[in-house]
Amino acid sequence: MLTVFDHPLIKHKLTVMRNKETGTKDFRQNLDEIGGLMVYEITRDLPLKEVDIETPICAYKGSTLAKEVVIVPILRAGLGVVNGIQNLIPTAKVAHIGMYRDEETLEPHPYFEKYPSCMEDAYVLIVDPMLATGGSSIAAIDMVKRQGSKNIKLVCLVGAPEGVAAVEKAHPDVDIYLASLDDHLNEKGYIVPGLGDAGDRIFGTK
Ligand code: PRP
Ligand code: URA
Repeated sequence: MLTVFDHPLIKHKLTVMRNKETGTKDFRQNLDEIGGLMVYEITRDLPLKEVDIETPICAYKGSTLAKEVVIVPILRAGLGVVNGIQNLIPTAKVAHIGMYRDEETLEPHPYFEKYPSCMEDAYVLIVDPMLATGGSSIAAIDMVKRQGSKNIKLVCLVGAPEGVAAVEKAHPDVDIYLASLDDHLNEKGYIVPGLGDAGDRIFGTK
């Protein structure tokens, strides 16, 4: 299922990010903030378990998260989404998938993966600002599924219709969340209107 968030704060912050005049510091800050806003909504289905505690006044049946949450950034750009989520879920574990997209073929090339031991039963959020052809997201979901994960969500900021269709076809069981569904991909595989190269804008590289 595809969810595209329709919220004034997200639209405002995403416009700041799209602006080519926005520098690294503000780009990262707005990415952080959008990541947090999106994940606040996405995690409404997080399971809870009852816990017995004592307040300073009396006994109380409270609630606590029933599952481990694992954030899986696709390097590099996905790293920019982690902080905003960790601010909301400080107990979340962070796996890493290293991958780059070949500039000519647009094929993803994985070079690193590292996971916590709880992947099979965890609530997994794969994060990457950009869903372009979908190749990187599909490969990352393949890798996470090989760890035994069943409860996987894909959280991207900007998506192209081509990439969304590809992920839905390859992994119909994975819900996709976007801050914006953009128009199309250009001949170089960049999202239009998009926000440029997310990794370079986050890390100040070229
Ligand atoms: C970008 C982006 C995604 C991927 C999207 O990463 O962050 O991972 O491209 O493209 P796709 O949907 O066509 O696969 P890139 O490979 O440029 O690496 P970076 O994060 O290091 O900039
Ligand atoms: N990766 C990016 O960083 N931006 C795009 O538009 C497409 C892929």
